[in-house]
Amino acid sequence: MGISKPLRIVIAGGSGQVGRMLARHFHGCGHAVTVIARHVSPSQWRTALWNGRDLDSWSRDIDGADVMINLAGRSVNCRYNEKNRREIMESRVQTTRVIGRAIAAAAQPPPLWMNASTATIYRHALDRNMDEATGEIGGNEPDVPSTWRFSIDVATAWERVFTEATTPQTRKIALRSAMIMYPSRGGIFDTLLRLVRIGLGGQAGSGDQFVSWIHGVDFIRAIEFLIAHEELDGTINVSSPHPLPDRDFMRALRRAWGAPIGLLATRWMLEIGAMLLRTETELILKSRRVVPARLLDAGFEFQFPQWPEAVQDLVRRWSEHRGQRAEK
Ligand SMILES: NC(=O)c1ccc[n+]([C@@H]2O[C@H](COP(=O)([O-])OP(=O)(O)OC[C@H]3O[C@@H](n4cnc5c(N)ncnc54)[C@H](OP(=O)(O)O)[C@@H]3O)[C@@H](O)[C@H]2O)c1
Repeated sequence: MGISKPLRIVIAGGSGQVGRMLARHFHGCGHAVTVIARHVSPSQWRTALWNGRDLDSWSRDIDGADVMINLAGRSVNCRYNEKNRREIMESRVQTTRVIGRAIAAAAQPPPLWMNASTATIYRHALDRNMDEATGEIGGNEPDVPSTWRFSIDVATAWERVFTEATTPQTRKIALRSAMIMYPSRGGIFDTLLRLVRIGLGGQAGSGDQFVSWIHGVDFIRAIEFLIAHEELDGTINVSSPHPLPDRDFMRALRRAWGAPIGLLATRWMLEIGAMLLRTETELILKSRRVVPARLLDAGFEFQFPQWPEAVQDLVRRWSEHRGQRAEK
């Protein structure tokens, strides 16, 4: 499945959680990595600066590249007030649009452009799995908060700009990714594990809502698979094949850490907690039941298809990084 020759890989938004994980991996494999970001941070790879809006010298790095990956976007882990909503939307739409312009203007456009999207684009789904062919885009569910509709609006606007970009020589893939679990500091897994370590890792709300997730190792392998499989384009769900109810998801995390008891968080407790943490309960209460039908059909094999094994591995990696052990 691997990539046989060294590639030039450009990652916009490559200074964030997912981008650093990919850049470190590709750099370690001998590929030439360039990150496009608004600030230079210490790294072993090249950084090209941009403002996320305007064509400038950074676009020269795209000309002649083999793979363009765009992950840029203001974090959604915040309260959805007017200012944050505007930044969440604009940072995704504008970066995607200007990358499309850079590719269209390139003398040697990259053969592949992967653009981040999100598994949150599907409706709140307790009843059945959402795959690329039969999954339903959300936004019209009755009785869901307006913040849930906002995330769908962002995801659909983001994908629309991507789809409309005219780049005839470039294969395009929208990555509808589930939560990417990796032990790096400040990432989603680190945050969830912190809740477990302080005894707050119980189920959220009813615990019935599904959690869609993917181990970071499989995320990287899926990206490599998509690079290698030139017949694949369009929207791809990048998630493990086994989403599971939050209740079971959190129980497996507590077991892996060796903490059998976690305080339940009822909906109103989560609302207050989310206000205090300056985030939105949508991130934990919306049921995301997303499956990777196209990856599976194409023959992709997950190293960590099931959460209990994945979470054991993640806890082990997390503990090794920090020199701590789970209390078994
Ligand atoms: N993490 C996940 O599990 C997950 C799941 C599904 C989808 N996604 C999507 O995948 C992408 C990467 O996720 P992540 O967790 O790595 O996010 P992250 O850690 O917040 O990184 C996002 C990157 O976007 C850049 N950025 C932020 N605001 C920007 C703006 N106004 N203009 C241009 N660049 C801006 C930042 O770069 P600089 O500040 O250095 O310029 C940063 O490197 C995001 O779009 C996210 O929505 C992530």
